[in-house]
Amino acid sequence: MDEAAEWLRQARRVVVFTGAGVSAESGIPTFREAQTGLWARYDAQQLATPEAFAADPDLVWGWYEWRRAAVVRASPNAAHVAVADIERHKAGTTVVTQNVDDLHERAGSREPVHLHGSLFAPRCAGCHAAFAPPGELPTEAAPRCELCASPVRPGVVWFGEALPAEALERAVQVAYECDVLLTIGTSGLVYPAAEIPLVAKRSGGKVIQINPAATPLDEESDVNLRGKAAEVLPALVERAFS
Ligand code: OAD
Repeated sequence: MDEAAEWLRQARRVVVFTGAGVSAESGIPTFREAQTGLWARYDAQQLATPEAFAADPDLVWGWYEWRRAAVVRASPNAAHVAVADIERHKAGTTVVTQNVDDLHERAGSREPVHLHGSLFAPRCAGCHAAFAPPGELPTEAAPRCELCASPVRPGVVWFGEALPAEALERAVQVAYECDVLLTIGTSGLVYPAAEIPLVAKRSGGKVIQINPAATPLDEESDVNLRGKAAEVLPALVERAFS
């Protein structure tokens, strides 16, 4: 912890790379844990695909609406707040997230780079026209596009789809340039996003990982801080900047 805090204090350029674990303590289930309640019999990784949406748009739309409703009800936790604190202390910080929620923004982060899109930016699956997000209450059936009558899809990246080019380019660039990259609450299993910490490492940056469990990034990380993001990150920030 002391070594990591010292690196963070001295860094000029910082990347905070986050995954579902950073929102876990806000009550948003991660992708790889068993789903509960209504969706317990579905596997998240099988719903997050273009094939699943083509086969049953309402099912996939309904699942994302359930997640969106959970996000709307949730609040940022101490980890999101600590990320925004890092940005306040270090102007050269960029947040790169795989999360499709808006909890970083609501904690005060400036323009996080969303590698996997957003729950709040639906678009037509046929003609790609943007569609206004539905209200607070989830809608069960996928709406139809007024222009081409195709089903409207969530504005997220599914397995097998390309990441938004601009977001990926920016993430690679800031990882390449950073002195320190914090990788927080991600299993490091989903590529190309999982390359981002490796880019930082290969270009000489220090990699600090925060996760309660082992991940494939353990070996690449200079320091592994085992624990929950909402506990470990505020402690690290406190140590680095007070
Ligand atoms: P995963 O669900 O794969 O992994 C969540 C990670 O968070 C695991 O390594 C957990 O050990 C860790 N974790 C759980 N609770 C935590 C806590 N309180 N604090 C810190 N860490 C905690 O989520 P991602 O790595 O984000 O992509 O998954 C990457 C991508 O795969 C997602 O963006 C999504 C997914 O399927 C697409 O949908 C394309």
